[in-house]
Amino acid sequence: MKAVIFDLDGVITDTAEYHYLAWKHTAEQIGIEIDRSFNERLKGINREQSLDKILIHGGAAGKFQEAEKQEIMRRKNQYYQQLIQNLTPHDLLPGISVLFAELKREHISIALASSSRNAPAILQRLGVMDEFQGVVDPAALAHGKPDPEIFLTAAALLGVPPSECAAIEDAEAGIAAIKSAGMFAVGVGDETSLRGADLIVHNTNELTFELLNEGWQRYCCIREGK
Ligand code: BG6
Ligand code: MG
Repeated sequence: MKAVIFDLDGVITDTAEYHYLAWKHTAEQIGIEIDRSFNERLKGINREQSLDKILIHGGAAGKFQEAEKQEIMRRKNQYYQQLIQNLTPHDLLPGISVLFAELKREHISIALASSSRNAPAILQRLGVMDEFQGVVDPAALAHGKPDPEIFLTAAALLGVPPSECAAIEDAEAGIAAIKSAGMFAVGVGDETSLRGADLIVHNTNELTFELLNEGWQRYCCIREGK
């Protein structure tokens, strides 16, 4: 394992909750109700894909012109940005800063593969921008998760082959993207929504180098048919 690639929302900090609240608020304004169970399907995917899924869910696919959709997304992002404006280093999820230190000690590179265009601002507020040797710009990608492009781009930024990378995700679409990229997939959450992950933890404070490395060794044995 030469690199660990992190998702942001729901892995490094609990902004997945703020995305949910912002979409719930915005969807209500156009007469659509969403709940936490539906929200699982929005995790990891980009803003445009999220709105499309919400409109289909509310029976409103095709109801809005492109300019109206842009306005709905602008409102969601504005509300979301209000929710994240007071983030501080205290908002790092448990165990994450210790994990960063352990990976540094082990000379393992770290990159960010988040679909969020707000990611750089969030990393700054959390005070962890300098931990990353690579941060993928999601606006420069042709395909969102579950396509592997974002994870392959992160590996390329670090100059590490995908087969030497582990990646950590809280979303179904993210785990699918990691597996399509040919990487070791670590899921944070519950088994039902993270099927396909090579290792699952329920909370970020379980994410130690020791656990990742044990999982990695097992994964390599299986991969090599030992
Ligand atoms: C992902 C979140 O990290 O970023 C999604 O899991 C979100 O919920 C996506 O829609 C895009 O974020 P943003 O900040 O660019 O709207
Ligand atoms: Mg996430």
